[in-house]
Amino acid sequence: MMLRPHRLLVLLLMLSVGRVLAGDVLLPPPGAHLDGMTPAPITVIEPHESKPLKPVEVTYQGYPLAPVLDHFLGAAWRAPDVLVTFEARDGYLSMIPSVRLTQYPVYLVYANARGADFSIETPPLNDRVPLGPWYLVWDNIAYPELRADGATYWPYQVTRFGLMAPERLRALFPPMLPEKYRDGAQLTRQYCLSCHQVNGVGGSKMPIDLAQWTTHQSFARFASWVLDPSAKNPLTTMPALAVERPATERQRMARQIYGYLRAVGALGGRN
Ligand code: HEC
Repeated sequence: MMLRPHRLLVLLLMLSVGRVLAGDVLLPPPGAHLDGMTPAPITVIEPHESKPLKPVEVTYQGYPLAPVLDHFLGAAWRAPDVLVTFEARDGYLSMIPSVRLTQYPVYLVYANARGADFSIETPPLNDRVPLGPWYLVWDNIAYPELRADGATYWPYQVTRFGLMAPERLRALFPPMLPEKYRDGAQLTRQYCLSCHQVNGVGGSKMPIDLAQWTTHQSFARFASWVLDPSAKNPLTTMPALAVERPATERQRMARQIYGYLRAVGALGGRN
């Protein structure tokens, strides 16, 4: 069947938008090596294995992220307000503001530079979890302020990345939502939506809709999950919210997240 010209135009437009947005890029396997780029060692304080008073340094082997993104996504990812997404094998989805990626040195690594296992020990059972094929790490030695966010924004087992489409972002912050919920929305995206969802946006590791869940819950019950999930379930893989930060700040963050989720939930349904 012949495509009518306007259909063809729409098709071409869709293809070109798809390209510019580069919704989803499948990363090549490590070893296929990224054209013309030279891997280098990078030493970090491994947030998955460190405690505030017991930092653990690890040296990984990998590439600075910026040229990799330039290569696959063009310059589009550098625009302000863009979120770059990193998706892991198990559905974990990190959505990282481009500003942060341009502000701090960040690397896509694929091996331990000293030849040790490319894996980390994770609670609660201290299982060793492989980090490959790709793992995103930050220079938190040169930039100690990055340590305040622990392992948030350090996705491992990454297989794809891309740019978050603007309409999906709008679903997280519908036009009807008052501006005062902006901080709560940002915290939710940063700390919760890698595993959970709001209005269909987020990771699929534990894809409950947090806005719907929160509508029926008191702040006390919400906070007990968020601040100390292992008290709810000792075997949970859900991390406690921002453990590196002081208790009062964690409380405040939990309130902001709760306020935002209740407000989005009250607007109802997918927007
Ligand atoms: C690394 C993934 C991950 C992140 C990040 C995460 N969670 Fe969870 N969450 C889980 C998993 C897995 C469960 C399933 C419960 C269990 O393990 O016992 C869960 C359970 C919950 C529950 C209980 C749901 C129920 O049906 O009882 C709530 C509420 C919740 N999470 C809220 C949050 C909020 C709010 C944030 C952000 C501050 C967050 N989670 C961050 C993985 C995560």
